[in-house]
Amino acid sequence: MAPTSNILRVVHLNPSGQLGGAETSLLTLLTSIREAGFEVALILGEDGPFRERMERLGIAVHVLPLPEGLARLGDSALSGRGRLARVAVLISGVLWAIPYGWKLASAIRRLRPSLIHTTGFKMHILGAWAKPASTPLLWHLQDYVGKRPLMRGLLAWHRRFCSLAIANSRSVALDLERQWGSRPQVVTLPNTVDVDVFAPHGPRLDLDKLANLPPAPPGTVRIGLLGTFARWKGHHVFLRALSLLPADLPFRAYIIGGPIYRTGGSQFTFDELNAEVKRLGLGDRVGFTGFIGQSADALRALDVVVHCSTEPEPFGMVIIEGMSCGKAVIVSRAGGAAEIIEDGVDALCHTPGDAEELAAQIERLVRDEDLRLRLGAAGRCKVEARYARSLLQREIASLYEQQCLQSGHLTPSVAGGAE
Ligand code: GLC
Repeated sequence: MAPTSNILRVVHLNPSGQLGGAETSLLTLLTSIREAGFEVALILGEDGPFRERMERLGIAVHVLPLPEGLARLGDSALSGRGRLARVAVLISGVLWAIPYGWKLASAIRRLRPSLIHTTGFKMHILGAWAKPASTPLLWHLQDYVGKRPLMRGLLAWHRRFCSLAIANSRSVALDLERQWGSRPQVVTLPNTVDVDVFAPHGPRLDLDKLANLPPAPPGTVRIGLLGTFARWKGHHVFLRALSLLPADLPFRAYIIGGPIYRTGGSQFTFDELNAEVKRLGLGDRVGFTGFIGQSADALRALDVVVHCSTEPEPFGMVIIEGMSCGKAVIVSRAGGAAEIIEDGVDALCHTPGDAEELAAQIERLVRDEDLRLRLGAAGRCKVEARYARSLLQREIASLYEQQCLQSGHLTPSVAGGAE
């Protein structure tokens, strides 16, 4: 019989200690969970700025470093390799995973969770191995499974251990339902932002200084692509679009972020992007700021935020963050990203990978300040109404309570108030 108690303990597992979109979405999610009265502990597969941010929020973090062979394992690390090499990588991955699974299981047992919530494909699988038999496991899917042959196979195999799957957009939910049918059940829970942190007013970073560029002349419109250096985030499309803009257009562009993940073969390097800037003759019209922890301060320093993923974006945190800061956002129209915005009303769109169309939208916004302000104001209203953190708390609390009731970790008399 599962232990029942009126304090519900959630143990969250996440592979990365960096601050990518998945982790920024977790900052708000875990804060909401704690505010709803749950005890929260986080186990990370890597140390990094995410741990510091969570600890500053008062959340207990345990770092259990993933062995390198496991951290680097992923579909992108396997692609392009021969069959034998793929099998060898997989076998070594499993050999690394077994002892890690043991350690994870004992770390979880010590935390006595009522429920385990995982993000990141590796933690979905490791969580299934390491969880106590009666503890519900929630998989929080933030990326498309259908596109990843390795993870798709592994998740299908382990899905009987998952009590509920949460998808960050309808588009991700549909992808899951296509793979799995109706088991486990999938619910859609869009990400949210803290609208007081991502607010139109507040500190603004000096992006020129961070990028080692001379100050831009007054009247320069600042355009930024903020994100990790995953290849599908479209940095090359952004640079090509910039190279198509008229020479006298008063703009400066910034690439904000860096190659923060460890999965092999999936990211641009600074050298590659720098070479592209040179090849396209962009000179000091583009600057690289490197990774910035306080992304709200960076977004506030921009006039236009560009999202240009070349593949359907599962959600796109930077879109709601930019809108919440009252910025004009240009979005690559596909996947979960397309569910967030209304083209021409609260953002502008372009076709994924289409540099000409993106260039046209950038030029429109550089030339039209009124349009920038109108889209920015409408974007802020949309986020306040649909993507504000305060909206998340009730939904996540009720999902957790249902799961804990079903597993016997919560008695009916205390459901509806976790304290
Ligand atoms: C993943 C997705 C991204 C999403 C983030 C938060 O990084 O690729 O689209 O915004 O998770 O859910």
